[in-house]
Amino acid sequence: MPPLQFGGIFELLPNNMHNMKFLFFLLLLFLRSGSQSQPLNLAVGMTALTSPVSTAVEVEAIEADNDLRMAPDGAYALIAGGSKGIGFAIATALAKRGYNLVLIARHEGPLQRAKEQFESTYGVKVEILMYDLSTDTAATAIGAWCTQRDLPLKMLCNVAGLGGEDDYLSLPLDSLRYMVRLNVESAMAMSLTLLPLLEKNAPSYILNVASLAGLAPIPIKNLYSATKSAVIFFSYSLRYQLKDKQISVSCLNPGPVFTKPSIEKDTREKLGWLGMRMAVSPERVGEVAVQKTLEKKRMIIPGTLPKIAAFFIRLMPRSWITSLYGRAGKK
Ligand SMILES: NC(=O)c1ccc[n+]([C@@H]2O[C@H](COP(=O)([O-])OP(=O)(O)OC[C@H]3O[C@@H](n4cnc5c(N)ncnc54)[C@H](OP(=O)(O)O)[C@@H]3O)[C@@H](O)[C@H]2O)c1
Repeated sequence: MPPLQFGGIFELLPNNMHNMKFLFFLLLLFLRSGSQSQPLNLAVGMTALTSPVSTAVEVEAIEADNDLRMAPDGAYALIAGGSKGIGFAIATALAKRGYNLVLIARHEGPLQRAKEQFESTYGVKVEILMYDLSTDTAATAIGAWCTQRDLPLKMLCNVAGLGGEDDYLSLPLDSLRYMVRLNVESAMAMSLTLLPLLEKNAPSYILNVASLAGLAPIPIKNLYSATKSAVIFFSYSLRYQLKDKQISVSCLNPGPVFTKPSIEKDTREKLGWLGMRMAVSPERVGEVAVQKTLEKKRMIIPGTLPKIAAFFIRLMPRSWITSLYGRAGKK
């Protein structure tokens, strides 16, 4: 087979089919790599491409409901960024399994509502703490609060993070620094500060939330993808370092999750049909994240299409995928 002519192939397709170009290219690569063993199922992948998103979701729902690992008596999970979005969904999946919760966020209203909902629905204890995780002192103060109570901490979930449509060339330095502090520094600081408690309560778990965006450079989301890439590398290494302490580290890498209207709009504009097909509901992401973390999986990618996309993104030369993302971002 002659070498792939990346640009040439694209020229054969109509101009208005940007997403089809991407899909077509992915399929070509997929067929070329057919001999490689990877946990991907072409039949399931094609079903996910041609059916509503819920089809892939239902496949995973069956897997998830078969295995509900319940919490040991009195065990706590701490969710940094647990009042809304993916963090709230992770908290829900943990409460369903009987974990008591410590929820952290900046605003009291959503935290209070989450506490009432979890306590009344699942009968678990919920503590709420208001901190800005991007500050230098937050992790130390939260660590001290947990240690003073000798909290039986079984799981730390570092979820809070900042993305958005604007990035490196259009944001002031303060905003960029805030992104680095929240996305990277807070996960690093919370993990280190709570390590003694996690070790004391081992076997235990750390779940870091990165993103599919962390698998490759994305020009329009330059710093965001760089911070998420840092979280992925940090998680891989930490997993290795903590293996002997019986602390399992997992990294969640979701594709699009419509936790707010702006994410749905951005996905539709930049990634079009394929991006919309890749979206997984926050509830599903939370459920899969918790199930796979308890199964000690290293990389967690909810949804069939995001899994397939991750496979190809990691396979492609960096310059190609950067260029593909760059073109999508110009729309
Ligand atoms: N949504 C997606 O499409 C998507 C895809 C891939 C990865 N992710 C990642 O998943 C994580 C969650 O995203 P999401 O969409 O669920 O976000 P979200 O809906 O905005 O929720 C973020 C949560 O973190 C809290 N939080 C935000 N900034 C904080 C700060 N400085 N200090 C303390 N708490 C803070 C928020 O509460 P307060 O506002 O009250 O502080 C809220 O509880 C992020 O790391 C994001 O990068 C998201």
